[in-house]
Amino acid sequence: MTTRQAMTSEFSRLLKPGMRGLDLGAGSGIVAASFAQSGLRTVLGVDRMPDPRLPGVQWIQADLRNGLRTVLGDQDPFDFIVCWDLIQFLSRNYVLEEFLPSLSHYTKPGCLLSVCTFWSNPNPPLGIFIPSYFLARDLEYVFRFWEILTSEEVEIEEPGLDGDNRTWRVTNILARFR
Ligand SMILES: C[S@@+](CC[C@H](N)C(=O)[O-])C[C@H]1O[C@@H](n2cnc3c(N)ncnc32)[C@H](O)[C@@H]1O
Repeated sequence: MTTRQAMTSEFSRLLKPGMRGLDLGAGSGIVAASFAQSGLRTVLGVDRMPDPRLPGVQWIQADLRNGLRTVLGDQDPFDFIVCWDLIQFLSRNYVLEEFLPSLSHYTKPGCLLSVCTFWSNPNPPLGIFIPSYFLARDLEYVFRFWEILTSEEVEIEEPGLDGDNRTWRVTNILARFR
């Protein structure tokens, strides 16, 4: 089983029928389709690649560098958001200043968020730092991360939601929005 398959399986366990999800940088759509699972859920995939037309998966073909608000418009908020292996393709400033903070416009209370960079490369090209202001303002908590990923670089600490201003190097996070 690949890491991607293991994560898909683990994350699926957190999902319930009827949920609606967003997959940013959805690529082939296989992960999104797996979450959609025979009509149990709907998933909106966004990628600059064309719609793979998979069951249960809606699609927006767009360049995510244009901003989530431009790409998603007035989409209803989601129950879960995955963003796997995408952000290393975006600029660090954009990711931190715009992309990640703007996610909160599209989250239902309790929305699950999974952001990952790089599956196998131990030195991802963008080691991402998520400022605590983002964590504190928008996220209820961040899980330390899944054991299946312990072979990869995971340096997140407890999120410190009391407003301390440390930053954390993160390659994989699983969080829940307020
Ligand atoms: C490594 S693949 C990951 C695909 C999928 N998330 C997965 O885990 O299987 C990265 C994806 O990000 C998409 N991508 C990269 N830059 C993008 C951009 N600026 N706007 C939209 N999609 C982008 C690529 O088209 C590609 O499908």
